Amino acid sequence: MQKISESARIRLEKAARSAAARAYAPYSRFPVGAAVLGGSGKVYSGCNVENASYGLCNCGERTAIFSAVAAGERSIRAVAVYTPTRLPTAPCGACRQVIHEFGPDALVISVCDAKGRIETELSALLPGAFGPGDLL
Ligand code: THU
Repeated sequence: MQKISESARIRLEKAARSAAARAYAPYSRFPVGAAVLGGSGKVYSGCNVENASYGLCNCGERTAIFSAVAAGERSIRAVAVYTPTRLPTAPCGACRQVIHEFGPDALVISVCDAKGRIETELSALLPGAFGPGDLL
């Protein structure tokens, strides 16, 4: 279990909330903002990016993770996801698998427009995951 400071949690949550404003979601009209706390302590944000060829839509969480990795991060300590809903939403299965690659012990925070929030660990969202170690 990762120990994440209160100030890092606040930074992550703010970054996820503001990233949703940049979502490109003309088809689903379901904007998602996400932010990742890299091993270096830096925060990277992302939003969902949809496509007229629907199957190519990319989730906010994966956009944020790919941005972190492209900046040189190789581990993820926490992920925050924001949706403009009354209930918090957890990352989809594909995003759980991608989080696992870089942060098998990551904290996962989901926030929304109401008070409800989910704070859990990736290992609880994806038990028995397939990962890099399985290929050795
Ligand atoms: N979406 C995310 O960005 N993250 C998730 O974990 C679930 C779904 C996006 C994909 C698509 O653009 C829209 O939400 C509706 O599924």
